Amino acid sequence: MVETLYWENGRIFLIDQRLLPGTVTYVSCDSARTVAEAIRSMVIRGAPAIGVAAAYGVALEALRGQARPPEDFAAALGAGLDILAQSRPTAVNLFWALERMRQVWQALGSAGPKEIARHLLQEAHAIRFEDIQINRALGEHGAALIPDGASVMTHCNAGALATAGHGTALGVLRSAVAGGKSLSVIATETRPLLQGARLTAWELVQEGIPVTLITDSMAGSLMRAGDIDAVIVGADRVAANGDVVNKIGTYGHAVLAVRHHLPFYVACPLSTIDLSLAKGEDVPIEERDGDEVRGFGDCRWAAEGALVRNPAFDLTPAELVTALITEKGVVDNRQLTGGQLRDFVAG
Ligand code: MRU
Repeated sequence: MVETLYWENGRIFLIDQRLLPGTVTYVSCDSARTVAEAIRSMVIRGAPAIGVAAAYGVALEALRGQARPPEDFAAALGAGLDILAQSRPTAVNLFWALERMRQVWQALGSAGPKEIARHLLQEAHAIRFEDIQINRALGEHGAALIPDGASVMTHCNAGALATAGHGTALGVLRSAVAGGKSLSVIATETRPLLQGARLTAWELVQEGIPVTLITDSMAGSLMRAGDIDAVIVGADRVAANGDVVNKIGTYGHAVLAVRHHLPFYVACPLSTIDLSLAKGEDVPIEERDGDEVRGFGDCRWAAEGALVRNPAFDLTPAELVTALITEKGVVDNRQLTGGQLRDFVAG
């Protein structure tokens, strides 16, 4: 499997996901500003991957300012954290990682810039390493839920490319296959940016896991025909009541899954659960440029003059989600009572 991101010679290299699957190339970043731009423009995307990249953005900002006087260093590092926080609004992993980096900085008190930069780089490496371990753990928990021989539908890309490695939703499927199960995957293309067609299908083909690509609007018909046994997706943010915010289209697939009595699983690390928000409606939903809907790349197909909406994410109410699959285990999400998710995260 190709690396989503790697550290070399004082820079972070991010696989350019805008060009996949046709071209495999890496964008190198050397500052918080360049990492923030890579996140904003979706060189790198997927909630956990954005968090890991942002952590490196903070470390890079510290490293490039480490020869400055402490006050200048602190001002530049604070500005770097702010720039990164403004790159994308919905995936909470970004803010989780920035907060973790800020706490490392604060805990170092009066340490000098060099010392702070060294610790921040160590922390970014730790966040990346832990992300892979977490995905392997949640993969093991989730694999137990997937029956041998199942046809499993997934939406968007919650694979290795959306994380530091292994993936969340695809991590569950990878772990199931590694454990000896035979399964096939239905990947929705995921309009408008086609993360399913370009990224999920590519990851699975590379690994020899059978994958069938469909347009987003085919899901209901395939479910009705009995061609899908379960649905599994990732998440960008889960509120304290279990509401899930994920790639636009997820809600429709969840409604269809309930209609057809299919389990609808959400695989995510605990860092995606935002206990500070009571419900999914409180999550900021990114509205992206309408040109992403009008066409793709240089090709424009939409009628000139039509208004366009382009919310990048939607909200799936907790009662439609059969279970959340995390590194700590599986939570039945449909009948969450007050504080249950909070107790699970804290316990
Ligand atoms: O806009 P994207 O590509 O960053 O959106 C990604 C998704 O919605 C994924 O499904 C989600 O982040 C889960 S990734 C493990």
